[in-house]
Amino acid sequence: MRKKLIVANWKLNGNWAFNEAMMSELALGLKQVQWHDREIILCPPAIYLQQLNGLLSDTPILLGGQDVSEQFFGAYTGEISGQMLKELGCRYTLVGHSERRVRHQETNELVASKAKTALACGLIPVICVGETREERDSGMMNAVIQQQIQSVINCLKADISDVVFAYEPIWAIGTGLTASVNQAQDAHEFIRGVLKQHEELCAQKVSILYGGSVKAESAQVLLEMPDIDGLLVGGSSLISSEFLAISLSSLNSK
Ligand code: 13P
Repeated sequence: MRKKLIVANWKLNGNWAFNEAMMSELALGLKQVQWHDREIILCPPAIYLQQLNGLLSDTPILLGGQDVSEQFFGAYTGEISGQMLKELGCRYTLVGHSERRVRHQETNELVASKAKTALACGLIPVICVGETREERDSGMMNAVIQQQIQSVINCLKADISDVVFAYEPIWAIGTGLTASVNQAQDAHEFIRGVLKQHEELCAQKVSILYGGSVKAESAQVLLEMPDIDGLLVGGSSLISSEFLAISLSSLNSK
């Protein structure tokens, strides 16, 4: 019932030549594969969406934004709207990545509002949640994640079934420290439980991705966990052989 998603978050990386080389390597590695209910999604810097949209046409890869404005249009310097992302070929957008929550002081309410705008623009928001090391060590983890999700439920109400969540423990991002398979599964089960409290059907429908130092060697075992429906990949998505191996490993999982 739930889609399996492999999402590449390029963050502030890429350039014209890199993008072109990467796309031809991915296209070669991904062609002639039956993806069925799997989707491969690339979230490059917004400035490269148009270039990549042109390069993706013969591949199974879909595009996503890394962020979206809470606003639809107007005097908001530097923002990118949901309609703009749609025009550039995006089907998805990340919202609430911890690098935006922490570095740009994005609150739970703002993240929820961005998710609402994304849906209104016909985009599927991939809403990132997760705890810091200190929050985990002090036993606050579940409360923090519950609040992050509850804000989205309060804002979206019945539309909550149309989003994707990504669990990204902040201490595992870019550190080489992947959460253990059991830590990841426990967090995903908790997130599904929060959704279940809202509505059983929503909990069954919403895909929950894991992100944080995912590598080809850890992808398969993570994807075998009952509540892990996909992966959100940072650093490893910038190495074509790694990202290809991660994408292909989704075919071997449930
Ligand atoms: P890394 O895979 O580099 O740890 O990044 C994870 C991430 O933040 C994806 O959004």
